[in-house]
Amino acid sequence: MGAFVGVYTFGFVAASVCVILLTYITYQLLKNYLHKWKQLKPVPGIGNTYPFIGNALQFKTNAGDFFCQVVGFTKEFWNSPMFKLWVGPVPFLILYHAETIETVLNNPVHMDKAYAYKFLHPWLGTGLLTSTGDKWRHRRKLLTPTFHFSILNEFLEVMNEQAEVLIEKLEKQAGKGPFNCFSYITLCALDIICETAMGKKVYAQSNHDSEYVRSVYRMSDIIARRQRMPWYWPDFVYNYFGEGREHDRSLKILHSFTESVINERAEYIHYTDSDSESDQGMRKRRAFLDMLLKTTDEDGKKMTHKDIQEEVDTFMFEGHDTTAAAMNWAVHLLGSHPEVQRKAQQELHEIFGESERPINTEDLKKLRYLECVIKEALRLFPSVPFFARTICEDTQINGYKVPKGANVIVITYSLHRDPRYFPDPEEFRPERFLPENSAGRHPYAYIPFSAGLRNCIGQRFALMEEKVILASILRYFNITACQKREELRPLGELILRPEQGIWITLERRKH
Ligand code: HEM
Repeated sequence: MGAFVGVYTFGFVAASVCVILLTYITYQLLKNYLHKWKQLKPVPGIGNTYPFIGNALQFKTNAGDFFCQVVGFTKEFWNSPMFKLWVGPVPFLILYHAETIETVLNNPVHMDKAYAYKFLHPWLGTGLLTSTGDKWRHRRKLLTPTFHFSILNEFLEVMNEQAEVLIEKLEKQAGKGPFNCFSYITLCALDIICETAMGKKVYAQSNHDSEYVRSVYRMSDIIARRQRMPWYWPDFVYNYFGEGREHDRSLKILHSFTESVINERAEYIHYTDSDSESDQGMRKRRAFLDMLLKTTDEDGKKMTHKDIQEEVDTFMFEGHDTTAAAMNWAVHLLGSHPEVQRKAQQELHEIFGESERPINTEDLKKLRYLECVIKEALRLFPSVPFFARTICEDTQINGYKVPKGANVIVITYSLHRDPRYFPDPEEFRPERFLPENSAGRHPYAYIPFSAGLRNCIGQRFALMEEKVILASILRYFNITACQKREELRPLGELILRPEQGIWITLERRKH
C-alpha cells in the first residue's frame, strides 16, 4: 500500500512538474512573440497579418511567383527603409537600400544566419556558410589560406581544360539554330568545382546523367520549398506529410558521394605526398580537399573527416550553381547586346590575337572590360538573389526598433536596381563598373558576394572561373540571344535561375 502511494505521489509530482514546465515554456514563447509583435508594429507590413501564421497564406507557393511577389513588395515599399513579413510566428524585415543594409552587415554582432538556414543543416552541417560564433570564426581562419591566389593559379589549369571540353561540346551546336546552353555551362562549372574542391573528375560534361548532379538540384528545390512553408518546419510534420522521405533519399546520395571522395583522397594522401609525382609520372594537382586534410589549427589539431565533409559539401553547394547561373545570365546579356559583345571580343583580340593558347594569370588581369561585363551581369542577376541574418541584440534600423531574434532578409536583386546608384537600372551597361564610374558609389549599393565579415570566401575563384569560361566562348563564337528579358522569368530560389533556361544561337568565329 505504502509503495503504491509512493508511486502514485511520484507520478502526480512528475505530471505537475511537466505541466508547470510546459506552461512556463508556452508563457515565455508567447511573451517573446508578443514582444516582437509590439516592437515591430510601426514597421510597414503587407496585407492582413494573422497571429501565429502571419502572412503565410498570402505567399505564392510556386518559387518563381513567390520571388516576383517579394520583388513586387520591394517596389511597393520603395520609399520606406524596409517592410516586414511574418512567416508563421517568425518576423522577417526586408531590406533593399544600401544604407539600411550597411547597418546590419557592418555590425559583427549580427553575423548569425537566419532561422531558414536551419534547413540547409542536414546537407551542409554547420560548415562555413551555416555556422555561427566561435565555430565560424575558427573555420574561416582555417579556410582563408585555402583560397590564396597561389592555389587559385593552379586551378586555372583545370578551368582552361574544362573550358576546352565546353567549347568542343558547343562546337556541335554552332550554326545549328537555337539551343538551351544552361546545362552545358552548368556541367562545366560542376566539373570545375569537383576537380578543384575534391580533386575528383566526374566528367559531368561527357556524362550528364549523374545521380549526384540530379540530387544537388533536387535538394536545392526541396529546401527552398520548405523554407517558404512554415507548417513544414517541424521535422515530424515534414517527415509525415511533406517531402521528408524524398529529402532523405537525396541527402543519402549527396553524402555518400562526398564521403567516399574524402576517404579515397585521404587514403591517397596517406600513401603519397600530394606534391610528389603520381603513378603516371605527372604532378598530382592540389585540391581544396587536400589542404583541408592537411591543415592544422594553432594547437596543431587536424580537421576530422566530418568537419571536412561539411566544408566540401558547402563548396559543392555554393561553388558551382552560383558561378553557373552567373555565366548563363552573362551569356544571355552578351547575346542580346551585340555592341558589348564586340567590345569584349576586341579586348580578347588585343590579348590573344589569332592564338588559341590557354588563358594565363597575366591575361586575366588584362581582361578589364570582360570583368565589367561580369560585374554588370551580377548586378542585374545576382546568383544569390537574397540572404538573411538574425538580429542578435536589440537594435535600431533607420529609426525603427528591431528586437533581438528578428530576421533580416537582404534582397540583393532589388538593392542592385536602386536608380540613385544605377540610373536606368534595368539597362545592361558594363561601363558602370569602369573605375572612373564606380568611384564614390555607396559601398553597400553593389554586393553580389555579400559584404562585411561573412562575405563570400570564393569570390576570387568565381570571377576567375567566369573570366576563363566566358573568354573561351567569346574567342570561338558569336552569341545571339533568342529570348527577350521579359521571357526569362528569374526563379529566385536559393540561386537565381532562368525558368526556361538560356536559349541562344552560336556562330563559329573565323580566326
Ligand atoms: C558568382 C559566384 C558566387 C556568388 C554570387 C556568391 C555569393 C555569395 C554570397 C551572397 C554569400 C553570402 C551568403 C549568406 O550570407 O547567406 C556567399 C557566401 C559563401 N560563398 Fe559564395 N558566391 C559565389 C561563388 C562561390 C564559390 C565559387 C565558392 C567556393 C568555391 C563560394 C563559397 C562560399 C562560402 C563558403 C560562403 C560562406 C562564407 C562565410 O559565411 O564565411 N562561393 N557567397
